[in-house]
Amino acid sequence: MAYGLLKGKRGIITGALDEKSIAWQVALKAKEEGATFTLSNAPIAMRMGAIKQLADQCEAEIISADATSLEDIENLYTKSIDVLGGKIDFVLHSIGMSPNIRKNRPYGDLNYEWYQKSIDVSALSFHKMMHVAEKLDAINEWGSVVALSYIAAQRTFPFYTDMADAKAVLESIARGYGYRYGKAKNVRVNTISQSPTMTTAGSGVGGFDVFFQYADLMSPLGNATAEDCANYVITLFSDLTRKVTMQNLLHDGGFSSVGISEDMADKMIQLQQQQQQ
Ligand SMILES: NC(=O)c1ccc[n+]([C@@H]2O[C@H](COP(=O)([O-])OP(=O)(O)OC[C@H]3O[C@@H](n4cnc5c(N)ncnc54)[C@H](O)[C@@H]3O)[C@@H](O)[C@H]2O)c1
Repeated sequence: MAYGLLKGKRGIITGALDEKSIAWQVALKAKEEGATFTLSNAPIAMRMGAIKQLADQCEAEIISADATSLEDIENLYTKSIDVLGGKIDFVLHSIGMSPNIRKNRPYGDLNYEWYQKSIDVSALSFHKMMHVAEKLDAINEWGSVVALSYIAAQRTFPFYTDMADAKAVLESIARGYGYRYGKAKNVRVNTISQSPTMTTAGSGVGGFDVFFQYADLMSPLGNATAEDCANYVITLFSDLTRKVTMQNLLHDGGFSSVGISEDMADKMIQLQQQQQQ
């Protein structure tokens, strides 16, 4: 059901790779809620082609940008303002990549060049997107900027390796830039800490199936899906959340507040019984 929450708003949505992507679902919801927006992804992701299908569905223009390049980001804002006919009201940063995870490097044996790449792509790009927006005065008063995070920023998930550090930086940037942009232009900046979600970035993490199931069993509401996440993002882009800023908002079905769940206890008992047989 649509509520017209984003009627008349203009936005930029990054990171839609395929229909499993969180950003893909956000784009569909944003369209449903009346927004106009541009879609952006790294040039290499463009070549895979799926984003074109989303662009057709949403009547959105695609603007290629490597989120680590200030020049590309500048072009992204300038073109978006041109195409959409005015300044931007919302920005989704849905970008993450770790070469160390891709190559299965354990936390004690990281390649440091790749480590820097992980931080640059997954965290500094968020700072760059706001720095360029501020410089160009590209975002309207009371605009909203959202990035996606994961609870490994606060708690240890061994297979998440350097992405955990990148997410900690990302969340810190939301506070640092949230303060600055709030003071300057009443622009709000938040991160959403999302449940494990079956996407290309998510399932690339070693042991993903196990911690997906673990989180699902531990959460009274079960894991939040990409579509659930999109719904939450829309509320943050809307005028209903104007005083929410500098927050890391947990969107995890309750996972972060649970010590142990009955479902998890039952699993452990089952395991014990199997071992005794
Ligand atoms: N999937 C999960 O379990 C999960 C959980 C919590 C948070 N997140 C976060 O959600 C965000 C979106 O990931 P997703 O799960 O939808 O996976 P995804 O793989 O669909 O999206 C990641 C996107 O990042 C883009 N990207 C990578 N390098 C880039 C660059 N240099 N410039 C521009 N774009 C670049 C990719 O092309 C891709 O579209 C990420 O920040 C991820 O860490 C994911």
